[in-house]
Amino acid sequence: MKLKYFSHSAFQITTDDGKVILIDPFLDDNPTSPVKSDDVTADYIIITHAHGDHVGDAFKIAGKSDCLIIANNEIANYAAGKGCKAHNMHIGGGYNFDFGRVKLTIAHHGSITPEGDYGGEPAGVVLSIDGKNIYHAGDTGLFLDMKLIGELNKIDYMLCPIGDNFTMGIDDAVKAVEFVNPKTVIPMHYNTWEIIAADPLEFKEKVEAIGKICRVLEYGEEIEL
Ligand code: NI
Ligand code: MN
Repeated sequence: MKLKYFSHSAFQITTDDGKVILIDPFLDDNPTSPVKSDDVTADYIIITHAHGDHVGDAFKIAGKSDCLIIANNEIANYAAGKGCKAHNMHIGGGYNFDFGRVKLTIAHHGSITPEGDYGGEPAGVVLSIDGKNIYHAGDTGLFLDMKLIGELNKIDYMLCPIGDNFTMGIDDAVKAVEFVNPKTVIPMHYNTWEIIAADPLEFKEKVEAIGKICRVLEYGEEIEL
């Protein structure tokens, strides 16, 4: 499986058998993304919450391919209203798709669509694909139940917001890594704009100081998991 980081909270997973899954594909209006929505296609798009910097270009991308949107009930209905195929889920629930398992977790944040409609509760997501468990924390503050998420799901890769202001900042994110105890953490949701400026190398240093592994990805970088 391959994991590509577009910047912000936008990632692309390509499974061993070639299925493409996007998470929070905020590309066209994202000043840090090296690719735009025209450059990508997807089989599945997972949306953690309804804010514009997470729904991003999901409907545009879904509209040009035979793509399934996976999200909580409210966002899935919103996607269906935009003419997309959608799979409705909710927090605590998991489902086995043909590429692997998706489970929604809690996240402490807000969720309203760009049109001002209620987007349901924001979520994190645990993906179990090709024998690895990936936890995309979504936008969230620190919470103690991250310990439970780590215990129950044995996380290999945690994708963790560090940009502060809207989500955890670096110090809380380091505590989150301690709680989840992933094999590797990858920082996200930073430096997109000045208001979430953060130094990923400071985060890496602090993560390494508690004996954990941090991998800072360049925008557009793809790694083998
Ligand atoms: Ni948000
Ligand atoms: Mn956000």
